[in-house]
Amino acid sequence: MAQTFDVVVIGGGPGGYVAAIRCAQLGLSTACVDAGRSPQGQVSLGGTCLNVGCIPSKALLDSSEQYEKLKELGHHGIEVSGVELNLSRMLARKDAVIAKMAGGIQGLFKKNKVTSYCGVGRLQERAGDRWQIAVGEETLHATHVIVATGSVPRPLPLAPFDGERVVDNAGALAFETVPKRLCVIGAGVIGVELGSVWRRLGADVTILEAAPSFLAAADEAIAKEALKYLTQQGLQFKFGVAIEAVSSDADGVRVRYGHEGQPCELVADKLIVAIGRLPNTAGLGADAVGLELDDRGFVKVSHWRTNLPNVWAVGDVIGGAMLAHKAEEEGVAVAELIAGQAGHVNEAVIPWVIYTSPEIAWVGQTEQALKAAQVPYRTGRFPFAANGRAHGHNDTRGFIKVLAHESSDRILGVHMIGPNVSELIGEAVTMMEFAASSEDLARTIHAHPTLSEVLKEAALAVDKRAIHA
Ligand code: FAD
Ligand code: NAI
Repeated sequence: MAQTFDVVVIGGGPGGYVAAIRCAQLGLSTACVDAGRSPQGQVSLGGTCLNVGCIPSKALLDSSEQYEKLKELGHHGIEVSGVELNLSRMLARKDAVIAKMAGGIQGLFKKNKVTSYCGVGRLQERAGDRWQIAVGEETLHATHVIVATGSVPRPLPLAPFDGERVVDNAGALAFETVPKRLCVIGAGVIGVELGSVWRRLGADVTILEAAPSFLAAADEAIAKEALKYLTQQGLQFKFGVAIEAVSSDADGVRVRYGHEGQPCELVADKLIVAIGRLPNTAGLGADAVGLELDDRGFVKVSHWRTNLPNVWAVGDVIGGAMLAHKAEEEGVAVAELIAGQAGHVNEAVIPWVIYTSPEIAWVGQTEQALKAAQVPYRTGRFPFAANGRAHGHNDTRGFIKVLAHESSDRILGVHMIGPNVSELIGEAVTMMEFAASSEDLARTIHAHPTLSEVLKEAALAVDKRAIHA
């Protein structure tokens, strides 16, 4: 018998499962259809983020950082010897984290009475005021549909994924042995995060990037500082490359590329291709129902409404920042709009975090964007090297930069590189959400000794009155 719901969400990643929970909280009868799998191929909610993205990459970043940090313990007066890597145990820990979190989402669905369906959800037709969605043999009926089908890795036609030597993010999170020679195509977020993981575990890593510079979306000063540290750690970058051919032979994967007008070649044991992601609408039945996509394949939306009545879309599949927290907020906003409330996402204050060492984080506008838009601004910058807690941690790399409007003093952007900035950025986001001025931030009491004092001092520095530098 067909099941009828107020809302059927297609996709159980951060956009979809959060939308489903919020719909249920608002009293809407809700189902979530998800085709997602764990790295072992078992049914697993949580989408890209939980199964092959944010969570496993951060688990391995943490494990590999702990391994590398053992070498620095001598600074603390702790002598360590006989350290050995047990990679299969490290990967098993990562998989256990995924399984635990996926079970957690199932638990949340149960608690909130969200009905969960495993399989591919396909939009069929609109009968009366309801949509029909096929899931295997079953047909669901829904007044509203939320499409949250996420994204997939963008393939490089010259180097098709083979799951063995040429891998995407999923393969790169599951190498059974540490590759001696690792090549990464794409010096984006995945390239530097997963490149860092395998370098820390012993790989010789070369990252080939088509763009002429590093992390174009980040503030230039931050990108420059990040490149300095990542290079010091041993990651080898080549910018402005043109990949010409990729082949496999007994030696490994052979990558031929042009660089600075010269033909170059490198041979690696593994090749990670991380050149961005594409919207995932395969299996959704978009064509059959006339769901409009843009010329890059993203579902076209206006305030998350598609061209079809009562069909909404959120997360990676609509483009914009491909981030889990952006997908989640959109899921909440759409649920609230369906329930007749005022759903809203403040796109101007979506934080970015790159979990390298040191970490990189920012929110708001970069200095180069302000210059290009001819916005008058003042800058305050403060180094972790002048912070007592950072010295206690034995990590004084990096700085925080606050950009504020020259006349109103409203904070326009905050850019960080340094220890724990993935956590410190939250305060900057809150300040910007509340339209704070740099003086508001500078006059807010920050506990001593904490790394957060660097943010306060950077705000003080906007008015040239930092105390400790
Ligand atoms: P997804 O998470 O992709 O979920 C979509 C779900 O829909 C999947 O389970 C898919 O199987 C399912 N699906 C697709 N089609 C159908 C269908 N027709 N029927 C049923 N189900 C379907 N973001 C961050 O914010 N922080 C990070 O640290 C971070 N790290 C990342 C690391 C890596 C290696 C990668 C690849 C991504 C990372 N991201 C990170 C990005 C983040 O994973 C995505 O932005 C986020 O997962 C998008 O959520 P979503 O719900 O839109 O889509
Ligand atoms: P990306 O967009 O961050 O970086 C891709 C890089 O590949 C770019 O620098 C681009 O210039 C380069 N490139 C494109 N084509 C190329 C080619 N033919 N040859 C060489 N270089 C080429 O994409 P990435 O790293 O694949 O990650 C996808 C998305 O996943 C990110 O944009 C981000 O939204 C999300 N993500 C977020 C993370 C976080 O929040 N910490 C971590 C990892 C991924």
